[in-house]
Amino acid sequence: MSTFRTLDDLPDDATVLVRLDLNSPIEDGEPQDNRRFERHARTVRELAEAGHRVACLAHQGRPGGGDFTSLSGHAAILADHIGRDVGFVADTYGDEAVAAIEALAAGEVLLLENTRMCGDELPEASPEEKADTEFVRTLAPLFDAYVNDAYSAAHRKHASLVGFPLVLPAYAGRVMQSEYEANTAIARKEFDGPVTMVVGGTKATDVIGVMDALEGTVDRFLLGGVAGELFLRAAGHPVGRDLEGMDLFDEQWAANHEVVEEILAARADEVHLATDLAYEDADGDRAEHRVADIDEKTVAYLDVGTGTVEAYDPLIRESDAVFVKGALGVFEDERFSVGTVGVLEAIADTDCFSVVGGGDTSRAIEMYGLDEADFSHVSIAGGAYIRALTGEPLPAVELLEASAEA
Ligand code: 3PG
Repeated sequence: MSTFRTLDDLPDDATVLVRLDLNSPIEDGEPQDNRRFERHARTVRELAEAGHRVACLAHQGRPGGGDFTSLSGHAAILADHIGRDVGFVADTYGDEAVAAIEALAAGEVLLLENTRMCGDELPEASPEEKADTEFVRTLAPLFDAYVNDAYSAAHRKHASLVGFPLVLPAYAGRVMQSEYEANTAIARKEFDGPVTMVVGGTKATDVIGVMDALEGTVDRFLLGGVAGELFLRAAGHPVGRDLEGMDLFDEQWAANHEVVEEILAARADEVHLATDLAYEDADGDRAEHRVADIDEKTVAYLDVGTGTVEAYDPLIRESDAVFVKGALGVFEDERFSVGTVGVLEAIADTDCFSVVGGGDTSRAIEMYGLDEADFSHVSIAGGAYIRALTGEPLPAVELLEASAEA
């Protein structure tokens, strides 16, 4: 269990600085609503309803990237989810921001501008260095407490994440609490029956690292996506390579093939590979190849086949815990959703402990009418989820723990 303080421990009538993670897909310059808003809204609403004065910090994109935008649109979406006004200032710690914070009344909520628009936020540095930035030195004296709700950014040593907990009493928000509990379960919990991990998606390097780190913890891995094809390649099949104009396999193969080959040699009984793969035929329909029949890769494989889903289904149903990292196919296209949805349906049908991680995979839950309540936890974290699975510490979480001890 975590040893950090939570909202239950906050003093009454506090002025609270809350770090959220509202980093979202941006389309036509506008943030798109997603689980992060809904989840963080619960923390912010609880604080506002308790009568605290609430100023929120968050980031969007990275400088130079196409999704690096102001948070003005985020404030409106957050307000809809909270059910009360969210003020916004296009300033993070300048005079305008300070004046808006000082003007907060009990129960009012304010969102400050994208933290990454301040030079002090990036790059990564020690908590001591970040606590000594003008950003932290200006804002900290205006607050009684710092709440970190941004579990999904907790792997970053940025000022808004590691600077404030050194100089203000620090507390975990509700999202931080629930993400921490669920995502570290793989390392903390004892399960009576088999522990299964579903591994897919396009970021094969990440998930292969997870498989490597989880030796002895996970009983079996069910593979699909890019990592699945790379393992098939290591097993001697002519897949897991780029066709012309493709840029998914060869580079990740070069970076990971030694680990893949090692896992396959030493832990073959843990690794379950697709026996069939789906592709789009000349008529635009879903068609399937049996892996054993593939002599040469001539089409892009977009999903695991139905035989594979049938083989994975009982393995999930007899599991005591299932962790999902990555989709088994391009589920956004219904024709290629069979693997991802089949696995999610099997999990939803059973009462195993389950965590579905990563924004992309979890989108399949609402797209295909599954009920989030049928999963123990649907994570809003990407990189932080990967680190939690591999047991790597998250600096911002460590600081919450240190703050509680101090
Ligand atoms: C995320 O979206 O995973 C977090 O907000 C971290 O974003 P970053 O990878 O740009 O630091």
